[in-house]
Amino acid sequence: MNALAQAAILLAVAAAANAYTWPSPQLDALESFRYDQLGFNGHFVYNFIDPCTAASEGTPTGRSTAADWIRTAYHDMATHNVTAGTGGMDASIRFAEEQARPENVGDAFSNTLNQLLTQANRYMSIADVLSVAAIAAIENCGGPDIAFRGGRIDASEPNAPGVPQPQDDLPATVASFARQGFTQTEMIGLVACGHTFGGVQHSFFPNTVPAGPNNTDVVSHFDTTYVTFDNNIATEYISGTTQNPLVVGANDTTNSDGRIFGSDGNATMAAFAASADLYASTCADLIARMVDTVPDGVTLTEVITPLPVKPDQLVLSLTDDTLAVSGQVRFWNQTEEVPGIVVSFVDHAGEATNTTLAFKGLGSAKAGKYTSGWYAFGPIALDAVAGLASLKFDVGGVVEDQGGVGFAIADTVVFSTTSCAVASGGWRLDVAVRTSVNVTRLYMEQISTDSTNRVVVVETDIPAPAGPPVQPNAAYAIWSLALTDIADEFEAYDVAFEVDGGTKGFSPVVTWPGLGSFPPC
Ligand code: HEM
Ligand SMILES: *[C@@H]1O[C@H](CO)[C@@H](O)[C@H](O)[C@H]1NC(C)=O
Ligand SMILES: *[C@@H]1O[C@H](CO)[C@@H](O)[C@H](O)[C@H]1NC(C)=O
Ligand SMILES: *[C@@H]1O[C@H](CO)[C@@H](O)[C@H](O)[C@H]1NC(C)=O
Ligand SMILES: *[C@@H]1O[C@H](CO)[C@@H](O)[C@H](O)[C@H]1NC(C)=O
Ligand SMILES: *[C@@H]1O[C@H](CO)[C@@H](O)[C@H](O)[C@H]1NC(C)=O
Ligand SMILES: *[C@@H]1O[C@H](CO)[C@@H](O)[C@H](O)[C@H]1NC(C)=O
Ligand SMILES: *[C@@H]1O[C@H](CO)[C@@H](O)[C@H](O)[C@H]1NC(C)=O
Repeated sequence: MNALAQAAILLAVAAAANAYTWPSPQLDALESFRYDQLGFNGHFVYNFIDPCTAASEGTPTGRSTAADWIRTAYHDMATHNVTAGTGGMDASIRFAEEQARPENVGDAFSNTLNQLLTQANRYMSIADVLSVAAIAAIENCGGPDIAFRGGRIDASEPNAPGVPQPQDDLPATVASFARQGFTQTEMIGLVACGHTFGGVQHSFFPNTVPAGPNNTDVVSHFDTTYVTFDNNIATEYISGTTQNPLVVGANDTTNSDGRIFGSDGNATMAAFAASADLYASTCADLIARMVDTVPDGVTLTEVITPLPVKPDQLVLSLTDDTLAVSGQVRFWNQTEEVPGIVVSFVDHAGEATNTTLAFKGLGSAKAGKYTSGWYAFGPIALDAVAGLASLKFDVGGVVEDQGGVGFAIADTVVFSTTSCAVASGGWRLDVAVRTSVNVTRLYMEQISTDSTNRVVVVETDIPAPAGPPVQPNAAYAIWSLALTDIADEFEAYDVAFEVDGGTKGFSPVVTWPGLGSFPPC
């Protein structure tokens, strides 16, 4: 892309408040995990909280996965020291050393991490995943919409201890929340917002919850609607009917909710009991602040809102003088198929080739509150020399082109179908590079994880042709990389590039064919 087009995109970003311009690899990934929940192209982990009564396999009756996800996010955040700027939402709760501390007793953390750890990717940290999970658990189970930002960074080691415990006295608890960055009133709110879900298990808190007559798998709930976000935690408390084991427990030492809720003479809880709306809006603010509590030096993104029109999973591949393009596109807030949507493939000279989209299915988010329509196109054969600069869509006469900038496509480096599997083992990856661009470095990016489960990117340079390059057509030259002995996990990759000796090229928005799919050489 030239500088003018880039400037146009930057202007469009500035102009559209709270909406980003596609493509943006990080925002695209965060938006997808947040808003493509169930249905077509959904993320399977949302089935763990659908329905909201769902619980981890093997856990006692009365447990709730939505509650586990919320408790996990709080315990990850609660190590924050606002003065030192340390701790916070950084997924340090994944370390066994933290989970072994008395302040983290229980199985919510291991259950949650087993379900969610592998959802992280190069653009979305484990801490981002845990934040989305806590937000979705509340939103999808009756709660208000909560603002989500991305960009958290996963800790490399456990944080200092600091999660409050039921037996802590009130001054210590207030001091703990102050260290986390929350006032006494906010402390009351945050505990009331969390403890509308789930309960206390006898097996982990035998002093607080007695065993049943012949049953030790007892869970004592904070309110009567333990899989639903509602202000019953407050109405039951204020009316004196609460069975909350941290309010009416026989051992007063561990009645922390009672001490916290009563610490302002019940003013906050009375207001929550009187107004479900006040409770919901207060919780939306406090939970957003909870997950946005991060160590100093971490910069979060803008609030992620769903893109109205979002291309996805583009595959570009070159064979001789033909550029084959296929992909999908999501239209947010469609409840049924809209027939006759046209996609235009705009080349570098501004000429368009048009085709009609094929409906694939509906996606949904927030327990069906929002739906989206998914469509596919291609593979369509384009002239490789004319190339592909951008996409735009025509929905019943309304042009969707991000306010005129189009949906920019990087055809600077594309997959060459001459790539192949070598008989003696390994592969030859051929990449077609547009010769009109001064590509000074081309490299493969493969995903791995480090010893602490953080996603890391491994780069392998693809050498420029040593002699006169193979040119399948007038616009492209082939660069090749011989690959041997690659672990299975590395069969997925991207190819990135630099231009003019340093500038990282416009991120390829293509999905690269897996090494396992290469034909024999
Ligand atoms: C002084 C502060 C707090 C104390 C002492 C406390 C204590 C507890 C205890 C003892 C349990 C039972 C865990 C089990 O048996 O597995 C629990 C569960 C839970 N806590 Fe807290 N908590 C506090 C603050 C919070 C906050 C601020 C939130 C979220 C905003 C939260 C969310 C939850 C949730 C959702 C559960 C239910 C977990 C489940 O059922 O799996 N807690 N809490
Ligand atoms: C929080 O950080 C400050 C500044 O480094 C330090 O003085 C204080 O002891 C810390 N608080 C806790 C509870 O560790
Ligand atoms: C206790 O266990 C016995 C034997 O399994 C059973 O008959 C009885 O119904 C149980 N009682 C309760 C309260 O669950
Ligand atoms: C009450 O709970 C505290 C804190 O867990 C414990 O030390 C104490 O022994 C308990 N008291 C009784 C009577 O069980
Ligand atoms: C707060 O409400 C609880 C539960 O109804 C009650 O036991 C307590 O006395 C109240 N505290 C004050 C200061 O009114
Ligand atoms: C969703 O679509 C409906 C019907 O087309 C429209 O009335 C509504 O305003 C849209 N909502 C959003 C959030 O775009
Ligand atoms: C392709 O679609 C665009 C946008 O709807 C339209 O302006 C153009 O005339 C179409 N071109 C052809 C060749 O159909
Ligand atoms: C490409 O960029 C390199 C590094 O900046 C520069 O040395 C070289 O002259 C450029 N080549 C062309 C053809 O512009």
